[in-house]
Amino acid sequence: MIDFRPLTEMDFPKLCDWLNRPHMRAHYQKVPIDIADIERKYSPRLSPGHPTRCHVACYRGEPFGKIQGYLLQDYPEFAAEIGEDDGVAIDLFIGDERFMGQGLGRAMLASYVQDVVPSLFSETLNCFICHAKANETAIRCSLSAGFRPHREVIEGGQASLLLIFDRLT
Ligand SMILES: CC(C)(COP(=O)(O)OP(=O)(O)OC[C@H]1O[C@@H](n2cnc3c(N)ncnc32)[C@H](O)[C@@H]1OP(=O)(O)O)[C@@H](O)C(=O)NCCC(=O)NCCS
Repeated sequence: MIDFRPLTEMDFPKLCDWLNRPHMRAHYQKVPIDIADIERKYSPRLSPGHPTRCHVACYRGEPFGKIQGYLLQDYPEFAAEIGEDDGVAIDLFIGDERFMGQGLGRAMLASYVQDVVPSLFSETLNCFICHAKANETAIRCSLSAGFRPHREVIEGGQASLLLIFDRLT
């Protein structure tokens, strides 16, 4: 019931709306963002050669969230911060709060790591996701999706938990 499609320029107004919603302020988008910022940040990511691959998640055809994956080796600063240099990192959010709290975050993440990541990157790479320790919902979501706690880290100056989804070796 959850499908993923690559982010397009047509999604930018919706992305801007989602990122400015109150539930995004605490952990994901801490400051307001305008459409010019969105274009600057996300336009380069539409190119197939860009290291960050962005997708819109749809439930029964309706867009409700965004998820992205990237190789840690392409982001050495972040890799150093979390103490890993090999694998795929994932970020996600549900933009439309009507879809929150119904298991869709868990389903979206589980489906992405199992079905999308292997086709984008490799079946053998571990996946990582990092959440502020204060973001209990996100941590529970990742645990429910099959991730397990890996180590405590400081990310962006914040006490955070790095979780891992082990893949075939
Ligand atoms: C994190 C997020 C994706 C979770 O999605 P969701 O659809 O709301 O969560 P789900 O319904 O799939 O629930 C996942 C788990 O979290 C728990 N949960 C859901 N809402 C919760 C809440 N408000 N407080 C505490 N736990 C909560 C659920 O009980 C479930 O745990 P369980 O399987 O052990 O019962 C979503 O809340 C979100 O987009 N938050 C804002 C952005 C963000 O923080 N992104 C993560 C940073 S990378």
